[in-house]
Amino acid sequence: MGFPVVRMRRLRANEGLRRLVGETKLSVDALVYPLFVTHGQGVKNPVPSMPGIYQWSVDNLLAEVAEVAALGIPAVLLFGIPREKDALGSEAYAADGVVPQAVRAIKARFPELVVITDVCLCEYTSHGHCGLVDDGQVLNDPTLEFLARAALAHAEAGADMVAPSDMMDGRVQAVRTKLDAHGYSGVPIMSYAAKYASAFYEPFREAADCAPQFGDRAGYQMDPANAREALREIELDLAEGADIIMVKPALAYLDVIRRARERFTCPLAAYNVSGEYAMLKAAAARGWLDERRAVMEVLTAIRRAGADIIVTYFAKDVARWLGEKGAH
Ligand code: PBG
Repeated sequence: MGFPVVRMRRLRANEGLRRLVGETKLSVDALVYPLFVTHGQGVKNPVPSMPGIYQWSVDNLLAEVAEVAALGIPAVLLFGIPREKDALGSEAYAADGVVPQAVRAIKARFPELVVITDVCLCEYTSHGHCGLVDDGQVLNDPTLEFLARAALAHAEAGADMVAPSDMMDGRVQAVRTKLDAHGYSGVPIMSYAAKYASAFYEPFREAADCAPQFGDRAGYQMDPANAREALREIELDLAEGADIIMVKPALAYLDVIRRARERFTCPLAAYNVSGEYAMLKAAAARGWLDERRAVMEVLTAIRRAGADIIVTYFAKDVARWLGEKGAH
């Protein structure tokens, strides 16, 4: 049977009908808000390529976190900007590093907020790579112990979850083993399992001051051309003990999110990265598109592709919009 008996427009006739048949609902429950934390006091440094996003000192961070919690956002993801960078990324695994300090401060004031920490070396190394470097090479195996120590430092400070983003082989196992050996078997790992070597991280590298000082990350992050390989990465991370797996970036990789969703039963996160944020912000600032509609469309699409969790710099806006009467 077809037209004229069938008319697809019938169920689009008004807002109520559209709400009833909407297949994908965006909810504040799915959102994780990334935060950049830096040393000092009273710091609120704007990130030029990411309007609305700042580097916060711990004191100021608490006010921002209060806003996040009040909006009902369940989780934040912390990135640290160290006082000093060195070849070994020492502050990444220092007990008094900026991230452990922030974790302690947040958990003391907002015990019910889920605090996730990024586990990587690139923000902390002078060369800007995610692992140790020797003779121009990013070393895999020697890096693992340092990543594991970083995860442990975060867990000891009270982090609810750790999120390794470095793309070294075997890091999930190294982190799991270290956490378990120190009594943190209850701390879950959200693994950036399928993380691509993407042009869309550029604004983040300004925010976290972590651009590689030589070469690029193509030797450890994934080739954007590959999707089957992403499934293999995810499979391996799950076998090593990952609790939540992530695909990153989101928008150019919706097919990867969909394939991961169909293949695996674990919770799936997608990272709506800095470049995706910057593109919409830049276009909206010029009046070239309606920011609210574009953001809701993009995040709904990431959910439709199959992500349970969305890490996004738009989390506060979306929570606000969802909370407004008549917002869907
Ligand atoms: C660090 C890290 C990066 C991002 C998250 N963790 C940058 C990179 O790999 O170069 C990117 C996040 C974003 O762009 O929003 N390893």
